[in-house]
Amino acid sequence: MFSIPLTLLLLSFGSLQQQHGVYAVQGNESCSQANQRLQLGTFQFTSDCDAMWYCNSTNICDWKGCRRDLYPFGYWPNVSIPERCPIGQFCPDEEDACQEVLPVGSACQKNRDDQCEGPVNWKELADHSGFGLNVNGSVCLNNVCMWANATAGSQCVIDNTVYIVYTAKTEYPVVTSRDNCQIGFYCDGSLKQCLARKELGAACSADKECTTFNCNKKGVCGATVDTPTHVGIYVYVIVGVCIIGGMISTLISLFFVHRRQRTAEQEKRLQYWREQNAFRQNLLQMQETAHHSLMSGPAGSQRNSLYSNGIGSDESQVPLTGKSTASGLRHQYASDDGMSDEGVLLHERKDMGRF
Ligand SMILES: *[C@@H]1O[C@H](CO)[C@@H](O)[C@H](O)[C@H]1NC(C)=O
Ligand SMILES: *[C@@H]1O[C@H](CO)[C@@H](O)[C@H](O)[C@H]1NC(C)=O
Ligand SMILES: *[C@@H]1O[C@H](CO)[C@@H](O)[C@H](O)[C@H]1NC(C)=O
Ligand SMILES: *[C@@H]1O[C@H](CO)[C@@H](O)[C@H](O)[C@H]1NC(C)=O
Ligand SMILES: *[C@@H]1O[C@H](CO)[C@@H](O)[C@H](O)[C@H]1NC(C)=O
Repeated sequence: MFSIPLTLLLLSFGSLQQQHGVYAVQGNESCSQANQRLQLGTFQFTSDCDAMWYCNSTNICDWKGCRRDLYPFGYWPNVSIPERCPIGQFCPDEEDACQEVLPVGSACQKNRDDQCEGPVNWKELADHSGFGLNVNGSVCLNNVCMWANATAGSQCVIDNTVYIVYTAKTEYPVVTSRDNCQIGFYCDGSLKQCLARKELGAACSADKECTTFNCNKKGVCGATVDTPTHVGIYVYVIVGVCIIGGMISTLISLFFVHRRQRTAEQEKRLQYWREQNAFRQNLLQMQETAHHSLMSGPAGSQRNSLYSNGIGSDESQVPLTGKSTASGLRHQYASDDGMSDEGVLLHERKDMGRF
């Protein structure tokens, strides 16, 4: 009876809890805008309010007015999810309402290049590499909107961020460096100048120096980290041979197992047949004896001779090995005293012959 409400309670409790087990404030409840911050290490925006609400200016959790994610998390199925902002507007980290993009030099939120207005030559400066170097030619560095227009040798701005990577066992820092250099250049940390990115195989000291964004452990620009691993033809050959070899050896072993079973089964049948044959020989002998003893009698002679001929005609290629061993098919086997199956069988047959 209590299981369903209890489960619902636990489920709703689970959704009320944010990442670190802190109870998140629900709609129409009071919150504090002072608690809004970016989390250490991940730089994820957090507030007192749960997923569907933001902390408004009167410090009460109110419905969110826009969303940043294509598939937002934590919404009830019965509430309508707010829209994403159109081109020329952005949804801030708080997700309270869409705002117009900000001109160069305005304050922007961390890593929110999309909050900044694009340059006139945005088509030329925009990044399409997938590395997230800028959005529409604009970058937000140290919380200021800029354009990613610095060329080779010109002064540049750097925004270094230390992220914490959490693994199951440890956590370690990763430094990312963003700048306002044009595509194909990086901002050198000590020179504060834009330098051309290095090609595959060149010596490097940081990921940003390579066009592939992968400065490997040897200090050389390596292939992009999402490059698929290719294995040699010989690996395919070995795997193929192993699969076919496994199939063939399975078939062969099954063949031998079945053959052994079949031989054992055949042996059983043969023994059974021999037993039965021995019984019949005994029976015929008994009948012969009875026949002879009744020969003196007047009526029974003809029928008995017919009967014995009838049985005798079945008798062909009979190996007379006797009843030395018992087949597994007979559960009751004749013992040597008179109380045997044979005895019963013989008596019945005798009776049948007589009447
Ligand atoms: C606050 O309460 C009113 C009335 O119950 C309701 O219509 C509104 O949706 C609530 N707002 C939030 C943010 O939950
Ligand atoms: C803040 O949210 C509450 C609850 O929805 C609402 O009643 C209040 O008017 C909001 N304050 C402002 C300034 O919009
Ligand atoms: C939507 O569903 C939740 C539980 O999932 C419930 O608490 C809430 O009252 C429902 N209605 C509205 C309008 O949110
Ligand atoms: C890029 O920026 C230009 C200039 O501000 C603007 O006209 C254009 O709509 C923007 N494109 C996108 C996809 O944001
Ligand atoms: C480069 O961008 C800055 C803003 O970041 C701007 O002030 C400057 O005029 C731009 N330079 C050119 C050549 O477009």
